[in-house]
Amino acid sequence: MAPGLIDPIADRTVDVQAETITAKDKLQSTYKEAFAQGAKTTNYDAELNGSGKHAPAKYPHYLPYWEDVKYPALEPFEAVQPGKDADPSFPNLLANAEVKDVTANIGAEVSGIQLSKLNKAGKDELALFVAQKKVVAFRNQDFADLPIQEALDFAEYYGPSHIHQASGAPKGFPRVHLVHRSADDTTANDFFQERTNSITWHTDVSFEMQPPGTTFLYLLDGPAAGGDTLFGNMAVAYQRLSPAFQQRLHGLKAVHSGHEQAASALARKSIVRREPVSNVHPIVRTHPVTGEKALYVNPQFTRRIVGFKKEESDMLLQFLYNHIALCADLQARMKWEAKTVIVWDNRVTAHTAILDWQDGSRRHLARLTPQAERPYETPFEG
Ligand SMILES: [Fe+2]
Repeated sequence: MAPGLIDPIADRTVDVQAETITAKDKLQSTYKEAFAQGAKTTNYDAELNGSGKHAPAKYPHYLPYWEDVKYPALEPFEAVQPGKDADPSFPNLLANAEVKDVTANIGAEVSGIQLSKLNKAGKDELALFVAQKKVVAFRNQDFADLPIQEALDFAEYYGPSHIHQASGAPKGFPRVHLVHRSADDTTANDFFQERTNSITWHTDVSFEMQPPGTTFLYLLDGPAAGGDTLFGNMAVAYQRLSPAFQQRLHGLKAVHSGHEQAASALARKSIVRREPVSNVHPIVRTHPVTGEKALYVNPQFTRRIVGFKKEESDMLLQFLYNHIALCADLQARMKWEAKTVIVWDNRVTAHTAILDWQDGSRRHLARLTPQAERPYETPFEG
């Protein structure tokens, strides 16, 4: 062997690399999560006292605590549909509001009203308005400053709160789901060592038997720019398909799995608070109030079309994922500001976080997650 060349037989580092890559591939093959936050990633010192470069958390009582206790399986329940009783002219919700559409196909921005002060009729109208607009940013809201229980009570008008299987929660409020990245956190940079982008289209916890409907997320702390959330209109994504293709999708069901999310949490030495589950849902679901049909598959949690062979299932699902991701004309990039509450209808939308800020700013949001009906479909109408 020529001097200076590495002998591939004798060089054991190659084998070590192979094992490391194989282990990473195993984790990355079916589950992608841009925010790999967990029990080991919250820097309480920086959050409570500031980091030198960044101020302390504005809402320390909303910091995540990682309670390693097991919750029982979610119980089936009869879902309420507040939007069904709503006045479609929205007199209680929008009489004094300023409303601006974000795009032609999805999204609105509303100012001039206070969600927490809505009466019963106003809450019903909110459900219908959000089902129609798909996602709505309400500015100058007091949610973050209310006692946490009051915010939860407001959201539970729309259904019982989901308890996330792998989330940290504010002390005493296991039903509040937190999205939190500490100041100076490096998980984003670490993530981009392995992935080219942070896009993870999904609908929240679609693996549950009764996934969320009207869903609330509010900002506590965030970067000056960046960290937007991108939403897509899954009803128009369905309508965009040809009638023949729509017809083929009707009657198909797919498996949605929470097992990989739980395994990913355990691999990061974080917690799993409930036994993970899988459920089968129709690929086209019908909204119980508007009657709209919407695509209901997502690359984060959907695994397999029931009755199809793997290659067939992979091909059809990949087409739908590409369709959802490429339809930028059905998407709205929603911007966060202090005191913003974003409300979306999780039954007819998909969304993805955008991990794009590099200045180490804290990002801290709370989600209130009322569960809704078990997804169902109604016949193809042509
Ligand atoms: Fe989400």
